[in-house]
Amino acid sequence: MKRFENFTAMVTGAGRNIGEGIALAFAREGANVIVCDLDENNAKATVEKIEAMGSRAIAAVFDVRDRDGAFKAAAEGIRHFGKIDCLVNNAGGSAWLLRKLTKFVDADPETLDFVLDINIKGTMNCTQAVLPSMIENRYGKIISISSIAAVCGIQYRVDYSAAKAAQIGMTRALAMEVGEYNICVNCISPGAIERDGNSFKRMTYLGEDGHGGKPSDIADTVLFLAGQDYITGQNIVVDGGRVLGPIPN
Ligand SMILES: NC(=O)c1ccc[n+]([C@@H]2O[C@H](COP(=O)([O-])OP(=O)(O)OC[C@H]3O[C@@H](n4cnc5c(N)ncnc54)[C@H](O)[C@@H]3O)[C@@H](O)[C@H]2O)c1
Repeated sequence: MKRFENFTAMVTGAGRNIGEGIALAFAREGANVIVCDLDENNAKATVEKIEAMGSRAIAAVFDVRDRDGAFKAAAEGIRHFGKIDCLVNNAGGSAWLLRKLTKFVDADPETLDFVLDINIKGTMNCTQAVLPSMIENRYGKIISISSIAAVCGIQYRVDYSAAKAAQIGMTRALAMEVGEYNICVNCISPGAIERDGNSFKRMTYLGEDGHGGKPSDIADTVLFLAGQDYITGQNIVVDGGRVLGPIPN
């Protein structure tokens, strides 16, 4: 028996990088996966990889900023798999996605809205979409992927640092509200994680090269939290020690 058989995980931004790593890790352990992404081709590619492993998955193509889209995806997931045990709010990002990183003083209002909406409203939309069924089932895990930007701040990412800190605040307050239904709400704050195969060096205290992390490092932590029933309201930093202090040259 695999660790997550008869378990359904809804993962946003599961078309590539960290989200894909989380979706594949759940599938490897036997879970059904609702693969959510804006990008239809990438979502379908993740579904195909999961099916090739012998697990079940459906693609849900929507923008996490679209509340109706989030509710439709959750309803479709429940119709297909019977329930949603775990939501991973992974879709998110900074103004870099728009190639508009600037000093805060110069940030335009559209960019600020984009960064706050994708990270905060996206997390709220998807969480509200799954909560009623989790409350009814008296069971659920909600895990949001924040960032070390929330913990130590990142220059030229003031909006992103604020939005990622909001996810941690939301996690703590919601954990208090839904604990009575055995719903655990937690956050993970990654440091520098490989994207599109590009890895980082001299950024952490781990290994001779101070290497960055891989999507699997975040996926391992997600699956750990998804398997716990007595951890809630927490933020786990997964960054190779990067926030401990300056890395010597
Ligand atoms: N990679 C890192 O170093 C790092 C570090 C800290 C935190 N994070 C956080 O981890 C999460 C994933 O990061 P990543 O580097 O894998 O991101 P990524 O940009 O490589 O992938 C994000 C995925 O989400 C999808 N997506 C983007 N906007 C969406 C939207 N509005 N609705 C639905 N899907 C959307 C994209 O199509 C893509 O498949 C993000 O929340 C990010 O802020 C990443």
